[in-house]
Amino acid sequence: MNKINVILDCDPGHDDAMAILLAGYAPNINLLGITVIAGNQTIRKTALNAANVASFLNINAPIAIGEKNPLVRDRIICEEIHGESGLDGFIFPKYEHHYEKEKAYQFIINECLKHDKVTIVATGPLTNIALAIKAEPEIIPHIEEIVFMGGSLTNGNISPAAEFNILCDPEAAHIVLTNGIKTRMIGLNITRQVLVTPQVIERMEKINNKASDMFTKLMEVFNANQNKTFGIEAAPLHDPVTIACLIDESLLTYQDMNVEIDLSHGPSYGRTNCDVFSYLKKEANCRVAIDIDVNKFWDILEKGIKYYG
Ligand code: BDR
Ligand code: CA
Repeated sequence: MNKINVILDCDPGHDDAMAILLAGYAPNINLLGITVIAGNQTIRKTALNAANVASFLNINAPIAIGEKNPLVRDRIICEEIHGESGLDGFIFPKYEHHYEKEKAYQFIINECLKHDKVTIVATGPLTNIALAIKAEPEIIPHIEEIVFMGGSLTNGNISPAAEFNILCDPEAAHIVLTNGIKTRMIGLNITRQVLVTPQVIERMEKINNKASDMFTKLMEVFNANQNKTFGIEAAPLHDPVTIACLIDESLLTYQDMNVEIDLSHGPSYGRTNCDVFSYLKKEANCRVAIDIDVNKFWDILEKGIKYYG
């Protein structure tokens, strides 16, 4: 099988942890590395979380630490959902972690130049990726695609208009979308359908291995925090949809369209302006996911969890 070269850029994060889990399992993915960005928590914490998840699951991918701040705006974190550690709910064994010497953006550059084609999957703010594009535009032809969890065809989750990953660094998202790179957006309109219901928890718990133990313990806290913040009973499991759609291309349906980031610093700052009806007559720059087969997603996650023993 011809595997897809993938760099996973993430900010774990409960749902990012599940994206790492799926990336470690995916039979058609060659995981070149995990790059980390600040987002759900500070960079020190998200880096430790990424390394802990990878060690716990014996995923042997290099880990490179990225930026602690966005390009222009002030930093925001998401402690109310992901807790003080960024991954509240599960206690990992103590590991000695080894991180790459180079920063995440440099790691992305090196890997892209080393390989003919690389797919970058982003489940956090897009700062590392934007920096890599700006610092070394020669990587652009090597980027097969940037698949990102972020944005929304409808309303936001951190402001009326904006989704968290995009609002964390709207200027970076703008760079990702305006450099002629193939992009695929998986926004809240999709991930709000992927709900961690009690039935889902029960189904995964039954697998009864270390990955299912991590899943259930993390999801209990994730659900409780989403309930406190948004008043919902079951949390949307955003990030692993990015990897799942690479495992099975039929998981999502898409529409090509022009997507522009609101950089106005006003009330809609960070909004993904998705031109569904092509009002602006601008060229499509993004393949936007518009529907998901949710049952298929849970089947993929179940297989992924079972893979770990
Ligand atoms: C995104 O924000 C983060 O809190 C999650 O990890 C996900 O990547 C959802 O808006
Ligand atoms: Ca994330």
